[in-house]
Amino acid sequence: MAEVLKIAFTPFTQRRGVLVVFCSEGLKFGPATRKALAPVDAFLRQAAAADRFTGKNGSTLEIVAPAGLDLPRLVVIGTGKENDLKTRDMVKLGGAAMGKVPAVATEAAIFAEVATGALRPEQVAELALGVRLRAYAFDRYKTKRKEGDDRADKVEVDLACANSGAAEKAWTRKVAIADGVVLARDLINEPANILYPAELARRASALSKLGVSVEVFDVADMRKLGMGALLGVGQGSVHDSRMVVMRWNGGKKGVEPISFIGKGVTFDTGGISIKPAAGMEDMKGDMAGAACVVGLMHALAGRKAKVNAVCAIGLVENMPDGKAQRPGDIVKTMSGQTIEIINTDAEGRLVLADVLHYVNKRFKPKFMINLATLTGAIIVALGQEYAGLFSNNDRLVERLTKAGEATGERVWRMPLGPEYDKMIDSKFADMKNTGGRWAGSITAAQLLQRFVDKTPWAHLDIAGTALGSPQTDINKSWSSGWGVRLLDRLVEDYYER
Ligand code: BES
Ligand code: MN
Ligand code: ZN
Repeated sequence: MAEVLKIAFTPFTQRRGVLVVFCSEGLKFGPATRKALAPVDAFLRQAAAADRFTGKNGSTLEIVAPAGLDLPRLVVIGTGKENDLKTRDMVKLGGAAMGKVPAVATEAAIFAEVATGALRPEQVAELALGVRLRAYAFDRYKTKRKEGDDRADKVEVDLACANSGAAEKAWTRKVAIADGVVLARDLINEPANILYPAELARRASALSKLGVSVEVFDVADMRKLGMGALLGVGQGSVHDSRMVVMRWNGGKKGVEPISFIGKGVTFDTGGISIKPAAGMEDMKGDMAGAACVVGLMHALAGRKAKVNAVCAIGLVENMPDGKAQRPGDIVKTMSGQTIEIINTDAEGRLVLADVLHYVNKRFKPKFMINLATLTGAIIVALGQEYAGLFSNNDRLVERLTKAGEATGERVWRMPLGPEYDKMIDSKFADMKNTGGRWAGSITAAQLLQRFVDKTPWAHLDIAGTALGSPQTDINKSWSSGWGVRLLDRLVEDYYER
């Protein structure tokens, strides 16, 4: 991890380095901010007028070495209308503030106060989360730095707040979530020559340090279980397939676990149905579902969530080879159902079919939520703003939708139904792995549904949200680590005892 950041919590009276403060429309500051800026009040108003800065949401005013304040730089960030701010906006504000700390700075202070007053400890921690996520950069393979181009090796960021002790305590819980998102980003950004199934399994195994029990299944183990669909996908690669099962027992003893399942295709060439060259490098991120699940597990264990959770990831590399599976092949899944391979590039559903069945049978979970960069078609339908949500359970849909609105990692429900299910019936086997061009995301979901029985289940197609992520206040990386905050929130709001 590119660690460029040290976050501390201090009183408003202490400050050093670049000063970042917030104001609402009409240049309204909170009391501590007003006090700190008193020596330059008249000058600040002049500067704001000159720049037509009024405090509109998203606007900023920057002053280098303001006379009268012993500071290298003062940054004022507009938050829009007073009273409009919710706790969920704090993450964004933290990101925006960190974005205004210039690369050359070594110290900065952010005032955790808005016009209506000091932030509550929980809000300060959200602000810190935004700071941390904004500071993330995946640069471990850059051996040369252009001078002045990159951030100083370490920036020390102070969050000045009303109750620094309570804020720091809130942050010790939140930092687990930040680390979980960073872990997911790192795994997704990592290239496939470094991160192949066994290596991803190793990195997931490191969660045992947090008290997660981790089991790694190799090819022989999975052959014994009868996972013919997952193994068929991986058989063309020199890197052997793996499945990892992770368990966190923070809930009441004996209570059925909730479960999360991730697609972990460490590279997807398409196999014999090979993909075109353009953009294929992005398929190093075809394990984003698995990465999110690992990041979530880190968050839950790190903050000692009061819940029993089982996570499982299916890890394969989809390659063309003399040993690779062919279109027309028929594979037998662990559930006993058979699948005719029409297109070897529709591999994610084959991996998930076996892992979903395994988790359902062994753990009898309260629900199963799977994440997968499953179809290009979901990008056509929803772009990068919403993940596609497919589910057999209205309550799970409602809860995921609410957690999505609260975190900004939003989901949009898509339909399922017997008419779509018919589209994957096969002449030769129980089903085929593609249903043609139409409704491509839905027929993929229909295949998954054939492996979940009656268990409440939701499938998140994250092909649009996980990779080539939009650049936002809290993410400047190719992968945003989408889904960790969403699912952590789902667990916290609805499933902890
Ligand atoms: N991993 C891809 C889906 C994908 C595409 C993810 C773009 C992220 C960005 C998946 O395995 C795939 O190849 N799906 C095919 C299915 C088709 C062959 C039925 C697709 O979407 O084209
Ligand atoms: Mn594919
Ligand atoms: Zn894929």
